[in-house]
Amino acid sequence: MTIPVMIPWLGEEEAEAAAEAVRSGWIAQGPRVAAFEQAFAEHLGVPHAVAVSSCTTALHLALIGAGVGPGDEVVVPSFSFIATANAVTYVGAVPVFADVDPADGNLTPATVEPLLTDRTRAVIAVDQGGVPVDLAALRALADPRGITVVEDAACAAGSTYRGAPAGRGAALAAYSFHPRKLLTTGEGGMVTCQDAAVAARLRRLREHGMSVSAAERHASAGGAAVLETYDEIGFNHRMTDIQAAIGLVQLRKLPALVERRRALAERYRALLAPLTAAGARLVADPPHGTTNQQSCWLLLPDGFPVSRGDLLGKLAAAGISARRGIMAAHLEAPYAGSARVPLPVTEHLTRNSLILPLYHSLTEQQQDQVAAALLGAAG
Ligand SMILES: Cc1ncc(COP(=O)(O)O)c(C=O)c1O
Repeated sequence: MTIPVMIPWLGEEEAEAAAEAVRSGWIAQGPRVAAFEQAFAEHLGVPHAVAVSSCTTALHLALIGAGVGPGDEVVVPSFSFIATANAVTYVGAVPVFADVDPADGNLTPATVEPLLTDRTRAVIAVDQGGVPVDLAALRALADPRGITVVEDAACAAGSTYRGAPAGRGAALAAYSFHPRKLLTTGEGGMVTCQDAAVAARLRRLREHGMSVSAAERHASAGGAAVLETYDEIGFNHRMTDIQAAIGLVQLRKLPALVERRRALAERYRALLAPLTAAGARLVADPPHGTTNQQSCWLLLPDGFPVSRGDLLGKLAAAGISARRGIMAAHLEAPYAGSARVPLPVTEHLTRNSLILPLYHSLTEQQQDQVAAALLGAAG
């Protein structure tokens, strides 16, 4: 493939930061993880950030932090990467699939409300593809009922909601640093939260439930005399200092990453005007915020002359790696037949959309090549 769908923006600075962590001799969770957590919390404007191994493990901990457990129900969009629903299953709760807004692919009060029952404990509001969900609207529905809204901001580092970083307003939010995201640490994630006691518990749970972390014991004057206890069953959801060292560099690059992606997405909008004139639609900013353009997806209209599959095939033949649109969890084997209501918008979006190549180092010439291939394939 000459044009992949995504290339992370990594350079010598990240390589040097990772090498420094290696040279320091402390490569597991340690001082760099603590520094990354602090920098990320400051960037978001939230009191607590807990670094973990992925967004999937961040969601797992966030649901525990929200008090979700066996027998509870959690309303989630099916229109999301399957990890959103899986995290609910991990804590013994049931994911209840809600449909999404056709404009931005996110939950709305109208799609969530009919699914609330007296067992609903939480809603996972996804910022799908980086497009911020209308959190305040969902909280207006959930808060009076004692339901926690957890924000799945996996894709949304660098997106904004009502002028602030996406995720700031959630009781708990989860971020991904997988290389398909703007800010990457290889694998990695972060849970942010407002409550100090919840944050302290999540810090213990990510590290086997230890009352004193390994890094704290190492750094303490008491040394071997400091004994930890294990007061509940925890997990190994830790991030390494090598990842955090890379994350600190990437966080500084985030504004430039967002600016470049948004400029390229605008350029796609101009280049693909003939397609949009024919009824296709490129994902755009919602009225309540800005997207970091993590996934630049194109929705084909009904009756489009070429199927999505043929279009992807023709792009691949031209050396361009686009992707099918965002998946629908209820159409996959683990959740087949479990949807309680029809999900027509989800099914339409997942079957008729494709994700276009978009990354920091994509040149205008390459972008012209993608647009020309798309317009040619569409006839
Ligand atoms: C909405 C959403 N949630 C969760 C995840 C899982 O993230 P990770 O790969 O960091 O576990 C993803 C990954 O693409 C995602 O898009």
